Amino acid sequence: MLNRRNFLSAAVGVAAVGALSACAKKDDSPAASTGADGKKAIVLGFSQVGSESGWRSANTDSVKASAKTAGVNLKFSDAQQKQENQISAIRSYITQKVDVIAFSPVVVTGWDAVLKEAKAAKIPVVLTDRSVETSDESLYVTLVGSDFTVEGERAAVLLEKVLATAGHKGAVKIAQLEGTTGAAPAIERAKGFKKVMDEKHAADWKIVASQTGDFTRAGGKQVMAAFLQAHPDINVVFAHNDDMAIGAIQSIEAAGKKPGKDILIVSIDGVKDGFVAMSEGKINAIAECNPLLGDQLMEVVKKVHAGETVERWIKTKEGDFTMDQAKAALPTRKY
Ligand code: AHR
Repeated sequence: MLNRRNFLSAAVGVAAVGALSACAKKDDSPAASTGADGKKAIVLGFSQVGSESGWRSANTDSVKASAKTAGVNLKFSDAQQKQENQISAIRSYITQKVDVIAFSPVVVTGWDAVLKEAKAAKIPVVLTDRSVETSDESLYVTLVGSDFTVEGERAAVLLEKVLATAGHKGAVKIAQLEGTTGAAPAIERAKGFKKVMDEKHAADWKIVASQTGDFTRAGGKQVMAAFLQAHPDINVVFAHNDDMAIGAIQSIEAAGKKPGKDILIVSIDGVKDGFVAMSEGKINAIAECNPLLGDQLMEVVKKVHAGETVERWIKTKEGDFTMDQAKAALPTRKY
């Protein structure tokens, strides 16, 4: 898989960007429309993963609102968590001759063919939120999104704090609720968490169960119910997103246990419902993953369209939160 750290260190303009962008400034695009200022509005084809989580809804709202504010003509499609739908959407954007294509890839592999078609059509591609694995890095211009490996590391560090606060002694038996199989955040969050675990806690932390809940509440609930049957001694949940943590809470309560006390929970995202659960004492800590990528995306789309050089990976700023901070932070949460 493409190492995100490596391409960050090469975060300089890519020659291909200029080539793609210059060619993308075409005036004969049938998809082009005129903005309020009389200038031709940039046409952006955007393929979203789906609507699997609170994070995703906030991300979609952000992209739509920012496109409106920026005067970008947005063509939006929801892939319903299916790669084939995203590939069809991208092909349709190529046929429509949009100026720029952006997408948040449901999984990391399997994109080369369609990205080559976009390149052949001289349409630059911007990745948002998630990365892809590709044999040719010139197939996309940049990634606007989080460092998921670091998020996994931050979640492990938060768990250290949570265990200390709870005065936990003895073995730490962790159930991991993974995101969508093959998706960058699932792969990289697991990797980051394991790195900290292996380096610092090999003797006392163990992942006793790990399975995908597909980033959904229903998935988290179902997988956690099965985990509790097979491993009644689980004392920690690491959920790759808040929605799965919230689903897990339902199963933990149904099993007669107290989430946040009998079973400590650390998750990733920081959506409003996650903060509500944290303020109720049911989630112990959250590593934030910021979904409000719309403004950064529109800025990049404009630059790419204008033939300007952009960084290879444009990261988002994120914070960490523990239960004691939840009540105070809740009213100021934007998503
Ligand atoms: O790619 C970001 C992840 O996708 C979010 O953490 C999760 O909630 C979403 O479905």
